[in-house]
Amino acid sequence: MSERRSGRPPVGVIGGSGLYEFLDDVTEVTVDTPYGPPSDSLSIGDIAGRTVAFLPRHGRRHTLPPHRINYRANLWALRTVGVRQVLAPGAVGGLQPELGPGTLVVPDQLVDRTNCREQTYYDGKLRPDGQVPRVVHAPFADPYCPVGRATVLDAARTNGWRPVDGGTMVVIEGPRFSTRAESLWYAQAGWSTVGMTGHPEAVLARELAVCYTALSLVTDHDSGVEVGHGVTQQEVFTVFAQNLDRLRVLLADAVKALPPDQGGCACADALAGTESGLTLP
Ligand code: ADE
Repeated sequence: MSERRSGRPPVGVIGGSGLYEFLDDVTEVTVDTPYGPPSDSLSIGDIAGRTVAFLPRHGRRHTLPPHRINYRANLWALRTVGVRQVLAPGAVGGLQPELGPGTLVVPDQLVDRTNCREQTYYDGKLRPDGQVPRVVHAPFADPYCPVGRATVLDAARTNGWRPVDGGTMVVIEGPRFSTRAESLWYAQAGWSTVGMTGHPEAVLARELAVCYTALSLVTDHDSGVEVGHGVTQQEVFTVFAQNLDRLRVLLADAVKALPPDQGGCACADALAGTESGLTLP
């Protein structure tokens, strides 16, 4: 696939369904994985000489809630078609008063508050293809690719955003929003945003030695930030939809600006010195 198109490994974009319209000449590719099916088929298309594999995180019809997404299958499928760099846009709530709707945050840290998700490939369990993963402890002090982050920040500034460089995204299990007490607790801890899908996406990318960059679009002030106001699903969807056009432009520019291959970061070496027991696709 990558040879027939740009000849370079494709960039993966995991995001909301409206986003793949930034691609030209799209082919739908169904990928099966040792972990079952991903959220949907991949839409593979071109943009300025770069091949992009787009995967709608919640499925094309938005049928998968955050806790039922097969994150392992999603990342495995992307790597199978050659992806080595992932851009991951997503909606988040702002936990600090200055992070209001429409703000773009490019986080540099993550806190995991999920509790029922498969979050590793290295679980020691026999896979259907006969491979048995060994014990691997992936480095995760810095969960996001520094090259991807810098590229997205530059592209955002060029496109008139005033992106926030860094911040901690707390990922909750969902699908409910946080209580006011939970939200205040996260805010008082100094964390920036709250979302439902950023984990285990980031760590699974790292376990596959794939670069991963989150683009967090703030759609609401989370429950603790404003007195008398709780978050609603409608509010989140409306604000995300209002920002889709400029998010598409930003993604296209970020894809164009990404270096042709992994490099300048340690993501590709995440498994160095380990015996993983798995043959990565
Ligand atoms: N996604 C968008 N807004 C959110 C919020 N306030 N909490 C969790 N996930 C979100």
